[in-house]
Amino acid sequence: MDNRKEFLTQEFKKRFQAEPEVWTRAPGRVDLMGSHTDYNLGYVMTMTIDRDTWLAAAPRTDRKVNIYSLDMKSGAEFSLDDLSKDEKTSWTNYVRAIAKYCMEAGYELNGFNAIVHSTVPFSAGLSSSAALEMAIAMTFQAVSGFMMDPVEMALIGQKAENKFIGVNSGILDQYSSAMGEVGKTILLDCRALTHSMVDISPELNVVICDTKAKRSLLGSEYDDRRNQCEAGVEILQKSRPEIEALRDVSFEEFDAAKDQIPDVVRKRCQFILDENQRVLDLARLLSENDGEGLKKTFTASYLGARDLFEISAPAMEEMYQSMLNASGVVAARQTGAGFGGCMVALVRPETVGAFSASVISEYKERTGLDAEIYAVQASDGASIIEG
Ligand code: GLA
Repeated sequence: MDNRKEFLTQEFKKRFQAEPEVWTRAPGRVDLMGSHTDYNLGYVMTMTIDRDTWLAAAPRTDRKVNIYSLDMKSGAEFSLDDLSKDEKTSWTNYVRAIAKYCMEAGYELNGFNAIVHSTVPFSAGLSSSAALEMAIAMTFQAVSGFMMDPVEMALIGQKAENKFIGVNSGILDQYSSAMGEVGKTILLDCRALTHSMVDISPELNVVICDTKAKRSLLGSEYDDRRNQCEAGVEILQKSRPEIEALRDVSFEEFDAAKDQIPDVVRKRCQFILDENQRVLDLARLLSENDGEGLKKTFTASYLGARDLFEISAPAMEEMYQSMLNASGVVAARQTGAGFGGCMVALVRPETVGAFSASVISEYKERTGLDAEIYAVQASDGASIIEG
């Protein structure tokens, strides 16, 4: 951490000929259960990871933001009075979008100079963009002298994705990054926008296995899944108009209506109903360290994601088999939106090294790809480190 601070200070000085005055950070996340349940207003068991995005910043008085990313090796300067979309340095659109929706919510912003540095892997399904959004929101708060409620901050981040960036995502990523707590997982209720913290047994280590497979179809397939879930809701509403989302549908009610729902839509809805229940089950299984129960629940989630929701990919299937064959594995499943990206395992802490080595070699044999393995701990949510 001291090295990171030193490194960022040097880079800040090189670029802005001054010392940073404000330090902020926000983490990535991994979901342990609850794929695609967020936009169905259901539940997710989510966890921050100890990989985060840092900003070293100093306020400006001319309503300008000048920001440079050490990861992207690019940056831009823009005025808070002209927040149009930038095609050239497109990652800065996250910064512009957060500014826009903070101001729209009534906050008066100051500009800043900043250096960004992230240890969250990009395009892997670990919410590097939410980490950037939340770190930017913390920076605006620090340099402008106000604090907002973390739920409001998460909603501003979601709005940035939905309206400015054009990704139709739910609240999961931003909420996780805003709310995390060291050593805890978050049981998130995506309708109420509330959560409770769940202890994770010290006998379980969360290990992320990155397939390194390109997530090419992600955007359109994600939207398809949303539309299919909504199509299911529309059919179910015919017998009970109060139904707002799949969250409102019981297993009994769904079973009774099944025959009226076209095949693909029925499979998607079935998965969401099952997955919501699995999130609630997991809250108990995690703290009790119930190995058998965890394995059963994670397996059902992966099989449902593969066969009912159809968000798996060939590389994910190979990774899943590699994870199951590795020593010390308790349970394994997909994480994030699917279609490649990362998977997640619960592993006995003393076998994390052997597990990782085995996954890397078996996955390489199966696919020719070099997996990356990240053993992670839950970290605190977005914060102002200093300033
Ligand atoms: C992406 C989206 C989230 C959520 C997950 C799937 O990470 O950004 O809102 O829908 O996929 O659970």
